Amino acid sequence: SSPASHASRINKKTASRGAEGSGGAGKAAALFPLRRSICPSGLPDAIGLPDAIGLPDVKKFTESWILKMNKAKRTAVIAGNWKMNMTPSEAKKTVADTAALVAGKDGAKIILCVPFVDIASAQCGAEGSAISIGAQNVHFAEKGAFTGEISASMLKECGVEYVIIGHSERRQYFAETDETVNKRTKAALAAGLKVILCVGEVLEQRQSGITEEILSMQTKLDLAGLTADDLKNVIIAYEPVWAIGTGLTATPEQADEACGIIRSVVAGLYGGAAAEGLTIQYGGSMNEKNAAELLAKENVDGGLIGGASLVPEKFAAIVDAAQA
Ligand code: PGA
Repeated sequence: SSPASHASRINKKTASRGAEGSGGAGKAAALFPLRRSICPSGLPDAIGLPDAIGLPDVKKFTESWILKMNKAKRTAVIAGNWKMNMTPSEAKKTVADTAALVAGKDGAKIILCVPFVDIASAQCGAEGSAISIGAQNVHFAEKGAFTGEISASMLKECGVEYVIIGHSERRQYFAETDETVNKRTKAALAAGLKVILCVGEVLEQRQSGITEEILSMQTKLDLAGLTADDLKNVIIAYEPVWAIGTGLTATPEQADEACGIIRSVVAGLYGGAAAEGLTIQYGGSMNEKNAAELLAKENVDGGLIGGASLVPEKFAAIVDAAQA
């Protein structure tokens, strides 16, 4: 069916669920805060995926085939997201301290995504270690009049291997939309970067029972137009917005279920083998205490870690938990 009919179906569902809940109209309006900025002028047929927000082909997580996919076929990836923290000199020392603590722990790929101005000094700190230094955003244009932005080729030439795209803080504070996330992802991949693509629901969406719809919509829109080959250079990070920086963590079961939903969506788009090979991280207050339980789950292949990645001992303990 057409994008417009998907839209009206989802909107009706949203409105009626909102009305059933305690908050009435205000609650319904709170359900799609990210979506409103995602689709300011309607639905995303502009990016050429007509059924992009549809759900008919999404297999349910509860279907056993998704649970039986072989976790061993995936690379565990522990990535730190430093956000806007650390000066270049602090970065060099923190990376060097982290490198010393994680030396020889090669059971997981280790990445630290640092502010742009810290990239060079962080690389100095990482020298001789297996830590890869990544960035936290990238613009979609090759170059031009985009004051304050950084292009994929600039990052590539700086020796950056990974870039985070679509973090909820970018969506929330910097008007990032699924359309621009998709464009940034394509530009990054075209330049030979690997992408850590973030998706996740806000609290009102989870409480309203539409987490699956939100994850499906974001995954489809953000990956629109990518080939199965492109997907080999993409990691998806499931980051429930309500768990980021709040100290609240999804339970291992919630994290597993959400990562399974994302894997199901990817299976629908690219087939089972692609879904089986896709690394899906959990992010949202992952720390040295809860990491082992989260990482043990079948569909959780790593972590995207904010606060705890700033403290070498804590980050190293999470890397330890990923060795099993
Ligand atoms: P947090 O951040 O670990 O501080 O919750 C995670 C993230 O935003 O990637």
